[in-house]
Amino acid sequence: MSATQDFINQHKDRFLTELLELLRIPSVSADSRHKADVKKAAEYIQEKLKAAGADKAELYETKGHPIVYGEKSVSSSAPTVLVYGHYDVQPPDPLHLWDSPPFEPVIKKTDIHPEGAIFARGACDDKGQMYMHIKAFEAMMAAGELDCNVKFIIEGEEEVGSDNLEVFLREHQQMLANDIVLVSDTGIIANDVPSITVGLRGLSYLEVEVTGPNRDLHSGLYGGAVPNPINVLAEMIASLKDEKKRINIPGFYNDVLELTAEERAAMARAPFNLEAYKKSIGLKDVEGEEGYSTMERASIRPTLDVNGIWGGYTGEGAKTVIASKAYAKISMRLVPHQDPDKITELFKNHFESIAPPSVSVEVRPHHGALPAVTPTDSPAYLAAARAMKETFGKEPVPFRGGGSIPIVALFEQILGSKTVLMGFGLDSDAIHSPNEHYGLFNYYKGIETIPLFYKYFAEMR
Ligand code: BES
Ligand code: MN
Ligand code: MN
Repeated sequence: MSATQDFINQHKDRFLTELLELLRIPSVSADSRHKADVKKAAEYIQEKLKAAGADKAELYETKGHPIVYGEKSVSSSAPTVLVYGHYDVQPPDPLHLWDSPPFEPVIKKTDIHPEGAIFARGACDDKGQMYMHIKAFEAMMAAGELDCNVKFIIEGEEEVGSDNLEVFLREHQQMLANDIVLVSDTGIIANDVPSITVGLRGLSYLEVEVTGPNRDLHSGLYGGAVPNPINVLAEMIASLKDEKKRINIPGFYNDVLELTAEERAAMARAPFNLEAYKKSIGLKDVEGEEGYSTMERASIRPTLDVNGIWGGYTGEGAKTVIASKAYAKISMRLVPHQDPDKITELFKNHFESIAPPSVSVEVRPHHGALPAVTPTDSPAYLAAARAMKETFGKEPVPFRGGGSIPIVALFEQILGSKTVLMGFGLDSDAIHSPNEHYGLFNYYKGIETIPLFYKYFAEMR
């Protein structure tokens, strides 16, 4: 066994204790009441990077939350790995659906994680996965087996769109120069089916506001004679998809990259059990765009979903009222080569055009993200595949993920860097949901696999 793996085995308990401490910090980036907590999490990462042996670990303030940057240089002839991750988390709401408080981590066994899983907001996304990199780094340093230069960029705004990180990238191109970006913020198919994500969807996210009468009205006095903005909004949203569940916005599919028959056949070979899928989320049946499989619908096809909708009276009992306003938050997941700004514009024009003349409509764009695809034949991909094969005992399958990580496409655009998405989470880990968790198996597997990536990447170059 290598000295690095030996060090990992000897410090397993502390590696877990430290992660639990990080998980106790409620670093919710979307909630301004948690601004100080977000900073506290950044300082925790900074301190641990220094303790692990970084030459430098600094906080960079931004217009929003701080960015942690650290580096360790071993040799000018060694390749440089830029590790990206995020220490911010999604809001924990709805709180009452958690079996234990979101920022008081507990370890419990589950069917999928018989050796135990850490239950806490951010356990998998992304504190647990990001922290694996700091511990792998510590182990390589302690063992004197770090074969690459390494730079860490750990941000606090991934869950709110990474706008300030984009600015940071533009301003620090020299400092961030690298040979590969390594990210653990995605998943594997199953603990016995290792995989590497080779694509991410993009995102266009916006909010719509429909206004009818200038005040709330008595639904008896006025009902039937005036536009009800909630009814109107529901009709407008319903019209956005046709009976084949295709999105009805003119031009929406223009730039969509269609996969070849061979590519689709390769995807279909990845293990997937529709019955187990339905059961895991309590569904009687799935639905989606005609002509595509469930896996395709959730990865290589664009989507349109309402994420929230509100208006009128939602309190206890009944109130007979026609509201003045109705609102919805709508997201569209995008695939190569759709452009989020262009899609947002198409949506806005279309949505305004379908509004009946009796109401007024406002469309307010939130954040966007570009889709990304990563190569499967590069030295970095091969190094990751070899590392995973060694620790899982099985060759990982390449597959395209459905989620978004806004900065990945910008690493390529701004720094000219390719990314390897070597994540270790499971879809069943309930990220963004109540009872988010991360398997101890996955946490330690990640810590063991990462040093092998460095080793093989250095060798292959
Ligand atoms: N880590 C996720 C993205 C992810 C998860 C990709 C699992 C693939 C598999 C990330 O933290 C995330 O949640 N991203 C957001 C985008 C952001 C702009 C809010 C998303 O996908 O909704
Ligand atoms: Mn994440
Ligand atoms: Mn997330």
